[in-house]
Amino acid sequence: MKFSRLLTLLSVVIAGSAASMVLHERRAAAPAGFISVGAAPASEMITLRVALTSNNVAGLQDQLLSIATPGSSNYRQWLSKHTHNHPPTLSRLSMVFASANGLTSTVISPNGDWVSITLPVSKANTLFATKFERFTHPALNGPITRTLSVSLPSELVGHVDVIHPTTAFVSQDVRLVPRMRRLTGRDGPASSCNSSDPAGVITPTCLQELYGIPSTPATETSNALLATGYEDFWAQQADLSQFLSLLRPDISPPTTFTLLTTDNGTNPQGPSDAGIEANLDIQYTAGIATNVPLEFLSVGGFDFPTALFDTTTFLDGVPNPPSVMTTSYGDTESNFGASVATKICNGYMALGARGISVMFSSGDGGVRGNHDTLDVCTNNTFMPVFPAACPFVTAVGSTQGFAPEKAINFTGGGFSNVFPTPHYQTAAVSGFLETIPSDFPGIFNKTGRAYPDVSTQGWNFEMVAGGEVILEGGTSASSPTFAGIIALINDRLVAAQKPVLGFLNPFLYSKASSAFTDVTIGHNSGFECPASSVAFDAAVGWDALTGLGTPKFSDLLDAAFD
Ligand SMILES: *[C@@H]1O[C@H](CO)[C@@H](O)[C@H](O)[C@H]1NC(C)=O
Ligand SMILES: *[C@@H]1O[C@H](CO)[C@@H](O)[C@H](O)[C@H]1NC(C)=O
Ligand SMILES: *[C@@H]1O[C@H](CO)[C@@H](O)[C@H](O)[C@H]1NC(C)=O
Ligand SMILES: *[C@@H]1O[C@H](CO)[C@@H](O)[C@H](O)[C@H]1NC(C)=O
Ligand SMILES: *[C@@H]1O[C@H](CO)[C@@H](O)[C@H](O)[C@H]1NC(C)=O
Repeated sequence: MKFSRLLTLLSVVIAGSAASMVLHERRAAAPAGFISVGAAPASEMITLRVALTSNNVAGLQDQLLSIATPGSSNYRQWLSKHTHNHPPTLSRLSMVFASANGLTSTVISPNGDWVSITLPVSKANTLFATKFERFTHPALNGPITRTLSVSLPSELVGHVDVIHPTTAFVSQDVRLVPRMRRLTGRDGPASSCNSSDPAGVITPTCLQELYGIPSTPATETSNALLATGYEDFWAQQADLSQFLSLLRPDISPPTTFTLLTTDNGTNPQGPSDAGIEANLDIQYTAGIATNVPLEFLSVGGFDFPTALFDTTTFLDGVPNPPSVMTTSYGDTESNFGASVATKICNGYMALGARGISVMFSSGDGGVRGNHDTLDVCTNNTFMPVFPAACPFVTAVGSTQGFAPEKAINFTGGGFSNVFPTPHYQTAAVSGFLETIPSDFPGIFNKTGRAYPDVSTQGWNFEMVAGGEVILEGGTSASSPTFAGIIALINDRLVAAQKPVLGFLNPFLYSKASSAFTDVTIGHNSGFECPASSVAFDAAVGWDALTGLGTPKFSDLLDAAFD
C-alpha cells in the first residue's frame, strides 16, 4: 500500500453537492442510560476513524472455515502474516474524495485499512449527512459525542465498512466480574474441590483435578498465551508471585509475564494499582497453563470498540503472535451496532486464520447483557453480548458446584442479532431449540450465532489483589481457565511439530464434541434478577448457558492429535 497516495486521497473531502447519500447505520434511540444533552457544538473537533473495506473478507472466511475444519485437505495450515493482508479497494475513494479542503488524515494501521480524520462537527455533519449530539451516561466521566445515524456518499458504499465513533455507544464498565468478596477464615491453600465445603473455593489445583489438567510444565518457548487488559485494569507481578507461591508452589521458577502495550497502554505496579480483572486473568492463565510463556497486552484509552480494533491491529503486526488470546470484557451487542461489531469480528477471523485461538467470556448478565440489573428482570427481550456473539471467537460460560456441575445463574448465553448461525454449530443448536417450549416468553433470534461454545467453573476463584487474598467470580474467571487448557494442548502439539489448534470452533463442535462433560442443570436469569425471571434452561447436549459443557483434558488432547 502506498501510504502517501492514500493520504492524498483522504486529506480531501467530497464535493457534497454531487453526492447522493445512502444510510450506512442508524439506531432508533441511544441505548438505555445514555441521555442526549443537545447538539454537539459546530466547532467541536472530532476524530473519526474510517475502515476501508478489504477486498477479501468473504474469501478469507471460506478459507478459514476450511483450514479449521477437521478432514479438509488444508486442515490447520494456518496463514502466515503476509498472506492474509490485502489492500483495500481505493479506486472509488479517489473519485469521491475530490478536492482538498484542509482536513488532516492519517493512516493508522500497518496494512492501510484504517485512516483517521480530524474535523469540526459542522463538517462531519455535512460529510456524513448526520447530526452529532452529546450524550451523558452515569458510568462516564463526561459527555461523549455520538449520533443516531450516519450516511455515506453513494460512491463510497461498499468501500467503507465503519466510521467510528458515530452510532456505537459502549459505556465504561465492560469487565466481566460481577462480585467479589474477601476470603475469610482461611489461611493458605483451600481444600480442593470439596463439594461439601459451603465456601466451594476454586483454585488451580481444584481445576486440575476437576478437568484432568496436568501440572507438568510446558516445554515450548514459542507457544505464548496472551491475556488482554482494557480500561486501566493492571496486572501485578507481585500479586502473581504471591498467588503462585500460595496456590502453585510446585512451579519453579515462578511464572512472570511479558508486558505488551498499544495505544499508550501502561501497567503501573503497586498495591493500589491492582486491577482485579487483569489480576484474575493473569493469575488463572499462569495457574493453569504451567510454564507456558505468558503475555499481558495493556491497551490504553477508554473507548472499548477502538480498543478492540486496535488489539487486532496490534496482533496483526506481531511477527510471532501468541497461539491463544483470552479476553474477559464485553458489552451488549446492540450497543456496538452491526457495522462496528462486524468489523471487530472480522479482526478475530483474521487472527484465527493465523492460528490464534481467540477466547472471550460470555457475559455476566445471563440472557440480559453483560451485567443484569434489577430494572431489566421483567424484560423478556434477551440481550446478546459481544464479542462473545462473534462466530470467530470461542465464548466461554460459567458453571459452579461439583458432581454434577451446574450452569451458574449469570452465565451469558443466547443468540446474536448481527451474525447468523455458523454452519459448524447448526446441528448442536437445533437440538437445543427443540427443548424450548412453544409458549416460551423469551424473545431471541433463532437464526443468530448461538453462544457460549464451552464453559468452566466461574465462581469463588481464590486470587490475590493488592496483596490480599480474595474470592472472585464471573465468566471472567472461565475464559482464562479454558485458554490455559488450550495453551497446554498447543504446547504438546508444538513439541510434536504439529500445527496449533488455531480457530477452535469447527473442531470443538465436531471431532472434540465428546471431550466435554455435558452440563444439564441451570437457568441463566442473571446475578441480580430473581430465578423466576424468564431465561434459558440448561439441557442435554449443547445449550445457551454452558455450550458443549466443561472440558475433559485428555479427551481434548486426544482429539487434537487425532
Ligand atoms: C470438606 O468440607 C467440609 C465442610 O467444610 C469439611 O468438614 C471436610 O473436612 C472437607 N473435606 C476435605 C477432604 O477437606
Ligand atoms: C499516545 O500518546 C501520545 C503522546 O502523548 C499522543 O500524541 C497519542 O495521541 C497517544 N495515542 C493514543 C492512541 O492515545
Ligand atoms: C426491553 O429490552 C429491549 C432490548 O434491550 C429494548 O429494546 C426494549 O425497549 C425493552 N423494553 C422495555 C419495556 O423496557
Ligand atoms: C436476527 O439475526 C439475523 C442474523 O442471523 C439478522 O439478520 C436479523 O436482523 C436479526 N433479527 C433481529 C430482529 O434483530
Ligand atoms: C446467583 O448465583 C450466585 C452464586 O451462587 C449467588 O451469590 C447469587 O445470589 C445468585 N443470584 C440470585 C438472584 O439468586
